[in-house]
Amino acid sequence: MKKWQVYVVVISLFVHLAASRVETIIEGRTGEITNKLFDGIRGRRTVEIINKLGGGLTLTLHCKSKDDDLGVQTLAPDSRWSFKFTPAFFGTTRFSCNFKWGGESHSFDIYDDDRDVGDKQCYLCSWNIYNGSQGGFTCRFQESTGRYDICYVWNE
Ligand SMILES: *[C@@H]1O[C@H](CO)[C@@H](O)[C@H](O)[C@H]1NC(C)=O
Repeated sequence: MKKWQVYVVVISLFVHLAASRVETIIEGRTGEITNKLFDGIRGRRTVEIINKLGGGLTLTLHCKSKDDDLGVQTLAPDSRWSFKFTPAFFGTTRFSCNFKWGGESHSFDIYDDDRDVGDKQCYLCSWNIYNGSQGGFTCRFQESTGRYDICYVWNE
């Protein structure tokens, strides 16, 4: 074995050990912060949708990206549903959802790489869905305020 080959083997072993240590430490702990940290390292996102329609209304939703159809989900009042994904490294990742309740039907890009960057970036992207006079709206949780105060009207 040449000297550089030994280095490669030693370095690979070290990297492997370091990587498995990260996993072990993280598995040993629980809670949102650890998961969030680990998801952050991997760039993994969690999108959560919460039925805040009020009035005992059931929310029916259907989310899709260009590659994945996440199926039709039915949410009882105040209940939540979530999915996880890793954004594409090249190109943009976009998940669009259709929301239905009462006589309303609206679509919204629940995750969009182009929109959710910089200070709008989220790893746990949690959304409240509200009914209202203009056909309702949605607000995302903002870590710095601890509130659902990043609000949007529907895309359609
Ligand atoms: C949604 O909210 C509007 C405005 O408050 C209300 O008029 C409407 O009845 C609500 N929709 C349902 C299905 O309850």
